[in-house]
Amino acid sequence: MNYIQYEQKDAIAVLTISREKALNALNSEVLGELDAAIDAIDLDTVRCLIITGAGQKSFVAGADIGEMSTLTKEEGEAFGKKGNDVFRKIETLPIPVIAAVNGFALGGGCELSMSCDIRLASENAVFGQPETGLGITPGFGGTQRLARIIPVGKAKEMLYAGTKVKAAEALTLGLVNAVYPSEELLPAAEKLAGKIARNAPIAVRASKKAVNDGLQVSIDEGIAIEEKLFGSCFESADQRNGMAAFLNKEKAPAFQNK
Ligand code: CAA
Repeated sequence: MNYIQYEQKDAIAVLTISREKALNALNSEVLGELDAAIDAIDLDTVRCLIITGAGQKSFVAGADIGEMSTLTKEEGEAFGKKGNDVFRKIETLPIPVIAAVNGFALGGGCELSMSCDIRLASENAVFGQPETGLGITPGFGGTQRLARIIPVGKAKEMLYAGTKVKAAEALTLGLVNAVYPSEELLPAAEKLAGKIARNAPIAVRASKKAVNDGLQVSIDEGIAIEEKLFGSCFESADQRNGMAAFLNKEKAPAFQNK
């Protein structure tokens, strides 16, 4: 691949968007490679994915403005669908995904981070949806996910006025879980991924599905979704061994994803 680096260390994989000279902007080729890289993840062995950007300056500075500049209405819609399909694939990936936001997360970059389960940021991270200043709406889910993550009034300000949000404010808004000096960001993401990877994969995946599916429906339907997923964990070796370890006052076992 030209624009995606992918490395697996034990049960954690790090996917790096690597188009540094354009601040990792997403053109069709990058999106195609990202899609293929997500499809190629070995879900039997990877228990948590980290997505980051190459270099110290930018996570992803948006969709590629040069490529979009001459699109027709139909091509614009298709480009939006291409990005949305990949981001939805990330959002619904069975394993948790952490965005390690190492700089600019603008437009499609902010949108990519929001399709991840958890966002951690470096101190120089900047979030924004500047699209209306380019004559378009956000096209990779920004109008939908931003207002579901941060207060709706602030989301609308970011969308209408293009107001950018630095890391410290993103933390206050709940857009990110934590902020680190640049050099500490990836180690912190790997540490969190490690904690996730040590828990029972069936239970972690069911928790992700319960939250994501539950957020789309009424509380009663959400509770029903949880009951099914809760039930689905029983009779697994990990559930039996995890509970037996507690009852025997032993350390939690190495979970097997079985
Ligand atoms: N698309 C294409 N190229 C981009 C880009 C983008 N989104 N963002 C940066 N680049 C390119 C620049 O054109 C420049 O290329 P050259 O060296 O060939 O001129 C290179 O990356 C470095 O950028 P700058 O010189 O501009 O760097 P800077 O430090 O002065 O500014 C920045 C950094 C504030 C992030 C600025 O690059 C910028 O504003 N980028 C655009 C951000 C943006 O508007 N993103 C939203 C895009 S629209 C979108 O994403 C739609 C959607 O929802 C699907």
